[in-house]
Amino acid sequence: MFICIHLWQIAAMDDLHTVADFRKAARRKLDPVAWDYFASGSDNQRAKRRNRAAWDEIELQPRVLIDVATVDTSTTVLGLALPWPALVAPLAYQMLAHPQGELATARACADAGIPMIVSTMANVDLETVAQATAAPKWFQLYCHRDRGITQDLVQRAQAAGYQALIITVDAPVLGRRIADERNRFELPPGLTRANLARYEKPGANAAGGSHLSDLFRTRQDASLTWRDIDWLRGLTSLPILLKGVLRADDAARAVDAGCAGVIVSNHGGRQLDAAIATARALPGVAKAVQGRAAVLVDGGIEWGADMLRALALGANAVLIGRPVLWGLAVGGQAGVSRVLGMYAEDFSRAMQLAGCTNLADTRGLA
Ligand SMILES: Cc1cc2nc3c(=O)[nH]c(=O)nc-3n(C[C@H](O)[C@H](O)[C@H](O)COP(=O)(O)O)c2cc1C
Repeated sequence: MFICIHLWQIAAMDDLHTVADFRKAARRKLDPVAWDYFASGSDNQRAKRRNRAAWDEIELQPRVLIDVATVDTSTTVLGLALPWPALVAPLAYQMLAHPQGELATARACADAGIPMIVSTMANVDLETVAQATAAPKWFQLYCHRDRGITQDLVQRAQAAGYQALIITVDAPVLGRRIADERNRFELPPGLTRANLARYEKPGANAAGGSHLSDLFRTRQDASLTWRDIDWLRGLTSLPILLKGVLRADDAARAVDAGCAGVIVSNHGGRQLDAAIATARALPGVAKAVQGRAAVLVDGGIEWGADMLRALALGANAVLIGRPVLWGLAVGGQAGVSRVLGMYAEDFSRAMQLAGCTNLADTRGLA
C-alpha cells in the first residue's frame, strides 16, 4: 500500500518541472491555514515580492567558447563539502506539510548531500532529526529570554552532533503575518514545538491573534545585542553564523565578533516588510566580509540562474526555503528530493550556459 502511494506520488510529480509547478501543486494539497502560514510574507508582502523581483533584474554576462562539457559544481563551506552550493533553510513546523515533516526533509537532504538547517521551531526534536541520518546538519537558534533555555538548546545541538549554530537575528519580535492573525493560526492537536516541549508550562500561551506571535512576545528575547553573541560564542565550540544580516557594517561587525559567517536574509519577507531585497544587499555584505567568513544568501531563489547570480554577487552558497516545503507537501521525502534534484540540474546547466567550469569562474559574471 505504502509502495503504491509512493509510486503514485512520483508519477504525479513527473508533470512538475519548476518551483512554481510545485508551489501550485502544494497549494492544492495543503490545508488553507497551513498554506497561508508557509506562503505569507509580513504586512503587505512587499519584501517577499522584492526578493524575487531583484534576482530577476540581475543580468549576467556569460563567457563563450569555454569547454563546459563537464563542470564542477562542488564547493566547501566552513569545511563542509557540498555537491552544489546550497543548504536547506531553517523552516519551522514541517509536519504541517507532511506527516514525516523534518524527518522526510532530513532524509532527502542526506540523499542529495545538501545539509539541512534544523529550526528551533521544528515539530521533531533536534536529537531525533540528528539521528535520522548521518549527514551533516546545522542548528538554527532563536534566543529565548530565559537564558537557561537558550544555553540548553545550544548544548543539546552540540551534543547531538550539529556542525554549526545559526543565530537568527532578524526576529527580535515576530513580523506581522496578517493571514495568520485572521486564521488565528496555531499548531493543530498532536503537533508540538518538539524542541521546546520540555520547557513549556501547561496553558502558558494566551488565546487570540496568532499563536506564534503570542509565543514570540512571551518567549523571544527582544533585547538581544552583540554582547550576547559573545556570550553565545562562549557556550559552544561550534562555528556561529548570523542569519538576517542585510548591512555591510553589521556583516563586518559579525566577522570582528568572531562569527564564521553571515546569512543575507530578510526571513523570506516575513519580518520587516520594508527590508531591502537580499540580492541588493548581498554585494555590500560580501565586500565588507572580504572572504574572512562565509557569506550565504536566501529569499526567492527559485532557479539555477538565481544561484549563479548569488555566486556572481559574492555569495559562497544559497539557502533554499519555501520550495522545500512545496516539495515536502506534494510528495514527502520524494518531493523534497525532486525539488533538490531540480535545483542541482538547473544550476549545472546555468553554469554551462554562462561558460563556468567551476564556482571560481562565477566571479566576474555580474
Ligand atoms: C514557513 C516558514 C518557516 C520559517 N521558519 C524559520 C525558522 O524557524 N527560523 C529561521 O531562522 N527562519 C525561518 N524561516 C525563514 C527561512 O529560513 C528563509 O530565510 C526564507 O524562507 C528564505 O526565503 P524563501 O522562502 O523565499 O526561499 C521560515 C520561513 C518560512 C517560509
